[in-house]
Amino acid sequence: MKVAIGADHAGFIYKQPIIDHLKLRQFEVVDMGTNSLESTDYPIYAFKVGEAVRDHLVDVGVLICGTGIGMSIAANKVKGIRAAAIQSDFAATATKSHNNANILCLGSRTNSLDEVIHFVDLFFDTENENGKRHLKRIQMISEYEEKK
Ligand code: RB5
Repeated sequence: MKVAIGADHAGFIYKQPIIDHLKLRQFEVVDMGTNSLESTDYPIYAFKVGEAVRDHLVDVGVLICGTGIGMSIAANKVKGIRAAAIQSDFAATATKSHNNANILCLGSRTNSLDEVIHFVDLFFDTENENGKRHLKRIQMISEYEEKK
């Protein structure tokens, strides 16, 4: 599993612990910044990670900002991206099993580091159900995207 990770200044403090955790799980991690607490703009990293997923340079993306929300809004502008801002255990599981999300967005101001690490595990330990009803809905999104 190859994972691209990105964070803005708010998410930066969680980036390295998440990288370390992903590496412990034997994942290959590509760090796409930011690399300091200096104020920056989350869309930069959302687009970088989104494009890496879109172009199949990695399998999955992880993005961290204050809430995960700005990152998800921006990453979802990249074609083929299903980025989910996750703040609960249930959502971490459901977004993989139902939505087959390909980017996990996390918030440093909404959840503790322990919670976020747990979301990472739940997300990567859950399989997409690949059931007909969920597949149909994901296909509806892709078809809409093609029409734009
Ligand atoms: C940065 O202050 C903050 O707005 C950003 O990290 C994020 O929470 C946006 O959604």
